[in-house]
Amino acid sequence: MASRRVGFCLSDKKRRRINLSAFSDLCAGRGIEVVEIDLSQPMASQGPFNVIVHKLSDVIVEAEYDSQSQQLLSNFQNYISAHPQTLLLDPLPAMTQLLDRFASYRIMSQLQNTLKGKSICCPPYLEINTSDPSVIQAAVRSRQLSYPLICKTRVAHGSRSHEMSLIFSEVRLCDVRSPCILQSFVNHGAVLHKVFVVGDDHFTVERPSLKNFPPGPCDRSTIFFNSHDVSKPESSSHLTALDDTMPRLPPPSSDAMVALVRQLRVELGMALFGVDVIVNIHTHTLTVIDINIFPGYEGVPQFFSSLLSYIESIMEKQGPSEPAVDPDLSPQPSHCHEELCPAGGDKF
Ligand SMILES: Nc1ncnc2c1ncn2[C@@H]1O[C@H](COP(=O)(O)OP(=O)(O)OP(=O)(O)O)[C@@H](O)[C@H]1O
Ligand SMILES: [Mg+2]
Repeated sequence: MASRRVGFCLSDKKRRRINLSAFSDLCAGRGIEVVEIDLSQPMASQGPFNVIVHKLSDVIVEAEYDSQSQQLLSNFQNYISAHPQTLLLDPLPAMTQLLDRFASYRIMSQLQNTLKGKSICCPPYLEINTSDPSVIQAAVRSRQLSYPLICKTRVAHGSRSHEMSLIFSEVRLCDVRSPCILQSFVNHGAVLHKVFVVGDDHFTVERPSLKNFPPGPCDRSTIFFNSHDVSKPESSSHLTALDDTMPRLPPPSSDAMVALVRQLRVELGMALFGVDVIVNIHTHTLTVIDINIFPGYEGVPQFFSSLLSYIESIMEKQGPSEPAVDPDLSPQPSHCHEELCPAGGDKF
């Protein structure tokens, strides 16, 4: 048996996409065994593991209402607690907060404070918990959100979470479905920069994105769309087609990207995540609009080699009996405490 073992705990969907057998071959060349963990079986009989890489988003979300998922999650947590020498990529609480857009936008909106001088921001937004249009109108006015507004569900995982809308005026706020985030739309020339983080490496790929809209309110019906029709590599939609007069913007500065990734690495305590960035066409400010858990790394051919080197580097630092924290990362701050997040969105 190989002396070092890495367990993968993935949903069926993620497993189909990731081609684990290719990664397994790469690892075998370095004396590392890759094991697919079956959550429905006792983990102790599948271990030991030096490292576990997982994407348990489905299970975490389902555990809210489904007792079987609750059981699977608690088996997993019990194993991790009983095996502190096993490194977990990534910690469950860190991942869980990103499944909630209220929590993830609080983290994003803090970036403009922690990264002062780097011209980085998150669009202003509101947390909406009511369906009363008059309360929403008052909140939008008082927060001075600019139209158009983009409306995103509070839950950030699952097919429904990609159903979004663009709202062009106060009267159309009746189209808001709470709980959700209402965020100012930022014109960015229909280019999305997807930043894929693997430990201390990051890779950026460009994707199509929503086109520019005339700023300010206008008499236009709400546009309902699915974000996967907009910003997947193969996406092509009338919502992303720009007119030819739009000049191409310079790409985000690599200095700012490095600072952004480093800051998020520390704040999240995570190694495998993605950040979606757009560049404001007027101010050229780097604008963070989304953070994703263990994304697809599509368009990043170096993903497997980078993941392998990261896994090897943490196993080296870990030593035979070290505790299961990545020594590069400080403990996670408790982002969800509102009082720590004064720059976050107001709540309604
Ligand atoms: N504030 C904004 N201003 C302009 N465009 C935006 C804004 N927020 C989102 N978008 C557009 O909507 C798309 C989807 O937004 P977002 O990344 O938040 O959704 P998602 O469904 O969580 O994405 P993912 O597939 O990365 O999980 C973006 O790729 C971008 O084109
Ligand atoms: Mg996104």
